[in-house]
Amino acid sequence: MWDYSEKVLDHYRNPRNVGKIDNADLIGEAGSLACGDSLKLYLKLDGNQIIDAKFQTFGCGSAVASSSILTEMIIGKTLDEAKKITNKDIADELGGLPQEKMHCSVMGHEALEDALKKYYGEDIVEDNLPQTSDKIVCTCFNVTENQILEAIKVNNLKTVEEVTNYTKAGGACGRCKGYIKDIIDTYWNSLNKEANKEPLTSTQKILKISKVIEQQISPELQKDGGDIEFVDLDGNKVKVKLTGMCQGCKNSRMTIKTFVESILKDKVDSNLEVEQI
Ligand code: FES
Repeated sequence: MWDYSEKVLDHYRNPRNVGKIDNADLIGEAGSLACGDSLKLYLKLDGNQIIDAKFQTFGCGSAVASSSILTEMIIGKTLDEAKKITNKDIADELGGLPQEKMHCSVMGHEALEDALKKYYGEDIVEDNLPQTSDKIVCTCFNVTENQILEAIKVNNLKTVEEVTNYTKAGGACGRCKGYIKDIIDTYWNSLNKEANKEPLTSTQKILKISKVIEQQISPELQKDGGDIEFVDLDGNKVKVKLTGMCQGCKNSRMTIKTFVESILKDKVDSNLEVEQI
């Protein structure tokens, strides 16, 4: 018996926003009936804001709960904001999912991504990652290289078993397990190579800090009504300015500094220190 959070049980028993939007502006699909679960997500837009979202799913209780909470998470958001939602965010919003059910949160994210691709007409790939393709790796569950790489990257997956829990790939005949292992090794080796490269020049460091603040730190702070601006780099001191809710939040300044510093140390340079001005 899986150990489900109260929120998962609530969304499973009382799913929100079930059904179809007849004149939907965007529709995203993920999974397939042949593979045991599927999700169709309908979005209604006003400009680039999602004003309504509904879903139809065939799957287990976790799939219903993941789809239901996803619709609540995206209604009212702009497409740019929705684009930043990961499968981890969906699982976190539910108070967690059993490891073996994480693939349900991945299916929710894939349906959202499929819908948004029709708007943006693009794949979002970070430049320093190994190039992959839509090539099917697991024919039993129709899982592609891109889907596996995304799950590894977002959820920090290190083993084939973990990839199976998050994507279902490898969970039937097992023929694809060697291929999955290769994708895991290639990804982590490429990150290690990146970490062992020549030290960055000051300009490269500034560009990388700006990118990490803009793409990873700022969106997190915005969730609580705050934000951050990168002001300057002085040696290894990163000078930043907190804005919005973060600005007046004196008690949590140390927590925010620790949060920002730990991400910059991890993504840019372990010698960096953050100073608020
Ligand atoms: S090909 Fe992946 S489990 Fe069969």
